[in-house]
Amino acid sequence: MPILFDAERRVFKLDAKGFTYAMMVYRENYLVHLYAGAPIPDTDLSYLMYRGWFDSLSPLNPQVEDPNFSVDIQPLEYPAGGAGDFRISALSVRGKAGDAVTDIRYVSHKIYQGKPALPGLPATFDREGAAQTLEVETLDAVTGVKATLLYTVFEDYPVIARSARVENTGDSPVNLERVYSACLDLPTMGWDMVHLYGRWAKENTTVRHPLQHGIQAIHSKRGMTGPNHSPFLALADHTATEETGEALGMSLLYSGNFAFDVEVDTRGCPRVLWGINPEEFRWRLEPGEAFQTPEAVLVYSANGLGGMSRTFHHFYLDHLCRSQWAKKKRPLLINSWEAAYFDFDDDKLVEFAKEAKALGIEMLVMDDGWFGNRCDDHRALGDWWVNEEKLKGGLSSLIQRVNDLGVQFGIWYEPEMINPDSDLYRAHPDWAIGVQGREHSLSRHQCVLDMTRQDVRDNIFQQMADVISQNNIAYIKWDCNRHISEAASAQLPPERQGEFFHRYVLGVYDLMDRITTAFPHILLENCSSGGGRFDPGMLYYSPQIWASDCTDPIERLSIQFGASLCYPIASLGAHVSASPRAGLETKGRVALCGTFGYELDPRKLTEEEREMVKAQVADYHKYYDLIHYGDFYRITSPTEDPFLCDWAFVSPDKTEMLFTRVVMRRPPNVYQPLRLPGLDPEKFYTDEDTGKVYSGALLQHGGLDLSSYGRNELSDGDSLVKHFVAR
Ligand code: GLA
Repeated sequence: MPILFDAERRVFKLDAKGFTYAMMVYRENYLVHLYAGAPIPDTDLSYLMYRGWFDSLSPLNPQVEDPNFSVDIQPLEYPAGGAGDFRISALSVRGKAGDAVTDIRYVSHKIYQGKPALPGLPATFDREGAAQTLEVETLDAVTGVKATLLYTVFEDYPVIARSARVENTGDSPVNLERVYSACLDLPTMGWDMVHLYGRWAKENTTVRHPLQHGIQAIHSKRGMTGPNHSPFLALADHTATEETGEALGMSLLYSGNFAFDVEVDTRGCPRVLWGINPEEFRWRLEPGEAFQTPEAVLVYSANGLGGMSRTFHHFYLDHLCRSQWAKKKRPLLINSWEAAYFDFDDDKLVEFAKEAKALGIEMLVMDDGWFGNRCDDHRALGDWWVNEEKLKGGLSSLIQRVNDLGVQFGIWYEPEMINPDSDLYRAHPDWAIGVQGREHSLSRHQCVLDMTRQDVRDNIFQQMADVISQNNIAYIKWDCNRHISEAASAQLPPERQGEFFHRYVLGVYDLMDRITTAFPHILLENCSSGGGRFDPGMLYYSPQIWASDCTDPIERLSIQFGASLCYPIASLGAHVSASPRAGLETKGRVALCGTFGYELDPRKLTEEEREMVKAQVADYHKYYDLIHYGDFYRITSPTEDPFLCDWAFVSPDKTEMLFTRVVMRRPPNVYQPLRLPGLDPEKFYTDEDTGKVYSGALLQHGGLDLSSYGRNELSDGDSLVKHFVAR
C-alpha cells in the first residue's frame, strides 16, 4: 500500500517509488509534517517534529500539554496564519468578524485508489491504477472553513502531487487571502535554491545559490507565467551535482500569478510554499462554495538534479500531457514566421511547402498575418476571419494545394488578445480588460480580452471553430503576446475584483479545453512571445511549447538546458533558423535537443545546405525515440562553462547513446577525455563514426576519447555528435 495510516501513532506514511513522505496528527489534532526524502520503513517518527530549541516567545496552546510544541516552531503540513505561527502561511481566511486568524485542525481522512481530476484546472492523472490518493480533512472551527488536503502518490515515480480544496461550511461569506497549493517544512538549511529566470528571448536561465536566513521568493504577477521566472524551484543539497546528491523538485501546474516562497527561520529550518501569488488575490466564498487550488508536484531525487529532471520529463509525458500527441510521433514542421513575417500570400506559402516537401519536411505552419486586416502587428487581433486578399481563393483552397503536395497544414492564433484597431473591439470595447476611467496600457499595440467572461470565450471559440471545422488543420500554434495591466472585469462586482487574475487563468483553461476537446486530432503548440508561458499547466493541453523567440543556437543552449530542469525535451519547441551565428550543422544539433523543425525560407537554401537539411531530417527520424523517450543527461552546462556545452540521450535499456558537444568558444586547452554518465558499465559500446569500442565503465570513469579533434578543428560555434550502440 503506497499510503499507510498507522492508527495507533496517527502517522500517515506515503511511499512513492523511491520517496517517502510522512505526517502525523498530534495532540489537539494539529497536522504536523514529519519527513520528506529517501525511502524509510518506519512509522515511529514523531520525534522528527522537534527541530531545535524551543523559543520562549513562541505561543503555546495549553491544551496540548507539551512544553516543546508550538505552531511557531513545529513543522506543519498546511500552516495557517494568525494563531501563533509567525512564519509565512499557506492559508489565510478573513471571516465575518473581520480578523484573519485561521486555525485548521485535523478532522478525518480517506484513502482511495486513483487520482481525482481538479475542476477547471490542469492536473496530473493516473494511468492503469498506478496512483493512490489521501484526502485529509481539516477545519477551522470558528469560520467553518474546511480545508481538504489532497496527496496523490505515484507508484512508478518518486512523485507526490498535492493541492488543497477550501470550502465554506459556515453561515457567512469569508474571503480567502492566501491559499497556497503546498507547503514543505524542512529540518535544515543545507540546501541550494535552483530556479529559472529570464526575459523575452532569454528565458529559463538557471541560477543556483545557498538558502539564506529570511524570505526568498520567485513570483509572477503578470497575469501569465511570464518569462521572468518559471513556476519551478529545486532545492539541491550543497554537495549535489547533476548526478549525485539529493534534490527536491517543486513545480506548479499553473499559468498565472504564482509564488514560490522560502522562509528560513531563526533555527535554520526552511519552509517552502508554492501556489497562487497572494498579492492581488482575494477570493470570496459564500456559504457552501468551494475553492480548488492548482496542483503542486513534488519530486525527490537521490541522483542529483539530473535524476530530478529525468523524473519530471517521464512523469509529465506519462501523467500530465493529455494530448494524443504526447507519445505519438509528431510531424516535422516548417514555420513561416522568420521566413516571411507578415509578408506572404497563398503562392508564397505553396512555394514554401513545395520546397519543404522536397527536403522531407512534413508540415507547413502559417504563422501570424493570415486573418482580418492583419498586415502588421498594429491591428486585427480578435478578427479571426480569413484575409482573402492575402490568401486568394481562401484558406481551404490554400490547404488543399499544400495537402496535394503531401504536406500537412498548421495555423497560428492569438485567442486571448484584441487590438483596439479591430472589428471585435469596435463592436465590444468592454471585452478588453481595463478599469473604467483609466486608459489601457498597450503592449505590442494590443489589449487582453477578458477571458473571465463566458460571452467572450464563446465568441472566440466560435470564431476559431468556424475556421478549424471547415479546414484540414492539423496543428495550432496558440500565442499570447502581452501581460495584464489595469486588471479588472466589467462583469465582476467590486467585492470580487480580487478574483480577476485567477478567473482569467480559469477562462483560458476553459477555452483551451473546449478547443482541444472539440478537435482532439490537432497538435497544439503553446507560445507566449517565445517561452513566456512555458509551464506545466500549459503542457496539460499542449505537449509542446515554443521555447524562445531567440533562435540563435548558442543562446538557445542555456534556454533549453534551463527548461530541461523541469520540462521534457519532447516539449521544447526548437527550430533551425537563418540566424547569423554558427553553421547549419550546429543549429540542427541544438534544435534536435527539442521538438525540431525549421523557421527559415527554404527557397534561399544553397544546394549544400539542402543536402545538410536532408541529413538532419534523416537524423530526426533516426533519433526520434531516443530523444523523445530516452533519458536526458546534462553534462557540461553552458551557464557554468565558458567554452563548451555537452549533453547526451540514453535509451531506457541503455543500449544506445547520442552525445552532442557544442563549442560556444574555442577552449584554450586540448580536448580532454570527457566522462559520460548514464551508460551500463557492463556493456560495450561502439562509436558508430570511428568503430572504436569502449566499455560503459570506461566511458563513465575514463571518458570519451576526443583527442582526434585537434585544437583548430572545432572552432567557435562548431559541434560534434557521437552515436554509441551497444554490441
Ligand atoms: C510571437 C511568437 C513568434 C511569432 C510572433 C507572431 O512573438 O513568439 O513565434 O509567432 O509572435 O506575431
